[in-house]
Amino acid sequence: MASILTPEETEEMYGAFDQIGSKIILRIPDSLLPKRKLIGQVLLEKVKTAKSIFYQSSPVEGYYRIRQLELLAGEDSTETEYKEHGCRFKVDVEKTFFSPRLATERLRIADLVSDGEIVINMFGGVGMFSIVAAKKKRCHVYNIDINPYAAKLCLENIAINKLKGTIESIEGDASDIIEKRLAGTGDRVLMLLPERSDEFLHSAIKALKQKGILHYYCHIHSDKKNQVAAVATSHFMSVINVKSEVLGAKIVRPIGPRFYQAVVDATLSK
Ligand SMILES: C[S@@+](CC[C@H](N)C(=O)[O-])C[C@H]1O[C@@H](n2cnc3c(N)ncnc32)[C@H](O)[C@@H]1O
Repeated sequence: MASILTPEETEEMYGAFDQIGSKIILRIPDSLLPKRKLIGQVLLEKVKTAKSIFYQSSPVEGYYRIRQLELLAGEDSTETEYKEHGCRFKVDVEKTFFSPRLATERLRIADLVSDGEIVINMFGGVGMFSIVAAKKKRCHVYNIDINPYAAKLCLENIAINKLKGTIESIEGDASDIIEKRLAGTGDRVLMLLPERSDEFLHSAIKALKQKGILHYYCHIHSDKKNQVAAVATSHFMSVINVKSEVLGAKIVRPIGPRFYQAVVDATLSK
């Protein structure tokens, strides 16, 4: 990279790089956009495991939480295979949501699940959290997603992994599915659509048995990193309308300047 970028430009590119299987996705500052094809070609030559280099030309957006990609160099295909925690995943980096930055959180949740549990993953995507959990524990997971590509890839991911537990991939709106067939069935509910958690909170509560565990994800603005967990907890307490005991809260990942994804774990009793 030193051959085509100044040291200042190289610095601007730090942290703007995700490798998912054989695909590299770059977020490029406006000042470097004219050089993007060149950056793509150099990266393709340098990173031996990469087959395609894409520029992320939109934020993660819309109902499906997906991004637009522009091919800079290499193969024009957005499907790849990704390995994490001893699991294999087929992902499509353009048609479905996927973030390698949630790997630690996926393992944390899998460790919390017990054998015999029914887990409802309301916004399950291609099955990342569900598969890591069912690989480790004899649980049953309902992986719901409204994006048909995600539901289809989840089915394929169930088939290519050797799991202790079982997973059902369900395509549809989480509220509808819970209303029609999953009310009162879950020991644990995951809400990995942080920007819309409050909108779906009623359905998440409905999905749980009389007593169950909720993992409530949210986005928090805070000047002080060490106050994020407390702010997330007090927000959760202000929106929950059943008896609840907060088990813990933490930052999942930073998502911008003074902006964080956080999770609140709570036991709810109805
Ligand atoms: C932030 S992604 C999380 C995906 C997955 N849990 C993961 O970590 O890879 C949110 C997912 O929710 C799905 N989604 C959005 N609205 C939905 C709804 N009403 N019902 C079910 N899924 C929905 C999107 O298609 C997307 O795959």
